[in-house]
Amino acid sequence: MSQQPSILVVDDEMGILDVLRILLKGEGFDVSTAQGGKAGLEALKGNPPDIVLTDIKMPGAIQAVNQGAFYYIQKPFSNDDLVAICRRAAEQRLLKAENKQLKQEIRRRERSGLVKPLGKARAFQDVLKLAEQVAPTESTVLIQGESGTGKEVIARYIHELSARADGGFFSLNCGALPESLLESELFGHVKGSFTGAVRDKQGLFAAARGGTFFLDEIGEMSPATQVKLLRVLQEREAIPVGGTEAIPVDVRVVAATNRDLEEDIKRGRFRTDLYYRLNVIAIHLPPLRERRDDIQILWEEFLSRIAKERDEQPKALAEEAKGALLAYDWPGNVRELENALERAVVLSKSTTIDLAALPDKLTERRAEPLVAERPHVNPTLDVIERAYITWVLQSEGGNKTRAAEVLGIDPSTLYRKLTRYEGDVPG
Ligand SMILES: Nc1ncnc2c1ncn2[C@@H]1O[C@H](COP(=O)(O)OP(=O)(O)OP(=O)(O)O)[C@@H](O)[C@H]1O
Ligand SMILES: [Mg+2]
Repeated sequence: MSQQPSILVVDDEMGILDVLRILLKGEGFDVSTAQGGKAGLEALKGNPPDIVLTDIKMPGAIQAVNQGAFYYIQKPFSNDDLVAICRRAAEQRLLKAENKQLKQEIRRRERSGLVKPLGKARAFQDVLKLAEQVAPTESTVLIQGESGTGKEVIARYIHELSARADGGFFSLNCGALPESLLESELFGHVKGSFTGAVRDKQGLFAAARGGTFFLDEIGEMSPATQVKLLRVLQEREAIPVGGTEAIPVDVRVVAATNRDLEEDIKRGRFRTDLYYRLNVIAIHLPPLRERRDDIQILWEEFLSRIAKERDEQPKALAEEAKGALLAYDWPGNVRELENALERAVVLSKSTTIDLAALPDKLTERRAEPLVAERPHVNPTLDVIERAYITWVLQSEGGNKTRAAEVLGIDPSTLYRKLTRYEGDVPG
């Protein structure tokens, strides 16, 4: 495994590549080389290195080395100068990654504050009940659910209701960092343990002492790191990268993933023993399309939240817009709903959001039937009726008389139904 910063050397001359490879390898870098700009660009596509060393202009390479810093070095240069500048780049990268993590945590904390997760659907109420039951225990919890279903919201809820509420909620996205950085974030590292480790660094397992540690996207963790995590959970102590002394661990772990970990286990991508360690309490968050009853509660919450942020009165939704929100499948779940509303509020000039302000995919004719052949959870007749009526009304350009004809009902019946929807108050 690589604790070493990776470096890609691009040059036209094979001889130079050989020399630099030997030099930098000897200095603890994980070196790869590419002869010529074209090969260099190819090499950047796959797994971008931490550092690129080149004297060739490569179009597009700047974006490839995302968030990179640039250092210039004048030719001719000494080996020492070159190594020094590569080290500085490695250090810079490490600091940047740490900085980003910290900023994200601060932003997340600012946004949080205990709000009870919203939802009245049976499937969601079951989740809340389970969360409330396990919160006061020290049990490890694994939250599984599609992206945007509210895994972090539930994790924070568990934390806030636990005895560790004052100990802080620490969160780390295991998919956002390369293996070496992830390990140093989790377990810490000692000065000099790898190039770029210029000082001792406390890991989050140590920093989160007394609090809750949310390991997000746990399914993205590499097998090597999984072994180390398992050890921490078993022994309740962590050894920093490059260190020998174990540090006691006093955290409650809540992990989350949008992957099917049992499938990953079958494919050998996730360790069974770690899975059972994490999965002491399993919480499955149902996708939004399986709890359509919650859509209205959520839009009302989001509209009022967005209004508060913008310092204005909450906007209302036109009846057709409501129908479209209720009928859509929401593959991106609650997050997608939130984003759609934010966009709609910005796009709407008036105080009412109409259909046109919603993303196109919500209003496209649906190829799929409203009821799947073997659905997980069947929507209620009421939800289907409302969605279907709205869909027909949309297809008829809002013309109620024509819509009533298509629906095979009396226009007065249609008016009555629409009026009822209009007056709907969430329970
Ligand atoms: N039940 C809920 N009540 C209120 N807001 C919610 C609820 N569920 C989700 N949200 C909001 O939806 C957004 C997504 O939630 P969250 O980040 O917890 O989802 P996630 O499952 O962690 O998603 P991802 O897999 O994309 O990380 C957040 O802005 C959150 O505040
Ligand atoms: Mg999340």
